[in-house]
Amino acid sequence: MKNSQKVSKLAELQNSTMEKQLNTLQEDALESLKKINNLEKLKELEVEYLGRKGKLTEILRGLKDVPAEQKPLAGQLSNKVKTIISDAIEAKKQEIERIDVEKSLNEGFFDTTAPSTSSQIGTIHPVFETLTEVENIFSQMGFTIADGPEIESEYYNFTALNIPDDHPARDMQDTFFVEQTQHPEHGHQVLRTQTSPVQIRAMKEHGAPLRLIAPGRVFRNEATDASHDSTFHQVEGLLIDKDISIAHLKGVLEQFLTRLFDKKVSVRFRPGYFPFVEPGFEVDFSCLICEGKGCRVCKHLGWVEFMGAGMVHPNVLKAGEIDSEKYQGWAFGFGLTRLVMMRYKIPDIRLLTSGDLRFLKQF
Ligand code: PHE
Repeated sequence: MKNSQKVSKLAELQNSTMEKQLNTLQEDALESLKKINNLEKLKELEVEYLGRKGKLTEILRGLKDVPAEQKPLAGQLSNKVKTIISDAIEAKKQEIERIDVEKSLNEGFFDTTAPSTSSQIGTIHPVFETLTEVENIFSQMGFTIADGPEIESEYYNFTALNIPDDHPARDMQDTFFVEQTQHPEHGHQVLRTQTSPVQIRAMKEHGAPLRLIAPGRVFRNEATDASHDSTFHQVEGLLIDKDISIAHLKGVLEQFLTRLFDKKVSVRFRPGYFPFVEPGFEVDFSCLICEGKGCRVCKHLGWVEFMGAGMVHPNVLKAGEIDSEKYQGWAFGFGLTRLVMMRYKIPDIRLLTSGDLRFLKQF
């Protein structure tokens, strides 16, 4: 006998041995299954035959000695056996469960109105938990809570807010345009990029004086990373009345943050540009971790960037049909999502919209 013939004979032998082993395993398993009448024993049987250290695994160890051309067949057979055994186990499981229910029904113990033991109770999402607190604090300071549509017109999202036609925010790169067709006055439909359009809607609806916050979802066509997502939450603030100044804003913000974080927080204003305010500011608050001394979280500045704000631009008051000779006011907009991340030390913004239960269950 030539050497190669010898090898293939040996292979046949091994393969048929494996075939036999698999068939015997199947028979044994199905036979033992017949005698089982409770779920614990069933689990034991499953582990014995299909478990990681079970009998099937044991047989499959021999697969490495089967020559390459015969491996697919041996593999197919073992998969078939595995499916037959696990289907039989599943069928047995259902049978046992059915018998158990019937038994308890007969004994009169089965409460069909009892809540399912496997139901899961959800938790409040961290963004909404914080939003509820934000709303409570502002409500107690006399602010109402306003709302606006998430699908906005280009007019409310940009034009009425004094944002020029050629402003980069209107670019397709930054904004999700919903419709190609344009309304003659209101332009395209967009997913709102900010909560500021609610300013205009509220001014038109209620007139002056006004004192409101408008929380909600906003959308930007961003390349996402740990600190940028295409969907996030903002909170808009608007106060319109007679003799209003930025000093009122500073007082309101310090009061708000101190209550939210339950410790003394101060704010500072830097000049900033937003077309819908004049003058405009970037507002920072003192770092909560180091209290202004400087640490890694605030990049050793002692301050954390918080929001945009400013005195409402006369063109915006006009678009909101408010007499800018009589009334003035301020507006602000902050990223609620950022605040939540800081509050709970969440390292990646995308976790908040991921729906990942491992993350959500921590709250
Ligand atoms: N809407 C601005 C933004 O999204 C924030 C802002 C609101 C700035 C109100 C000034 C006044 O960046």
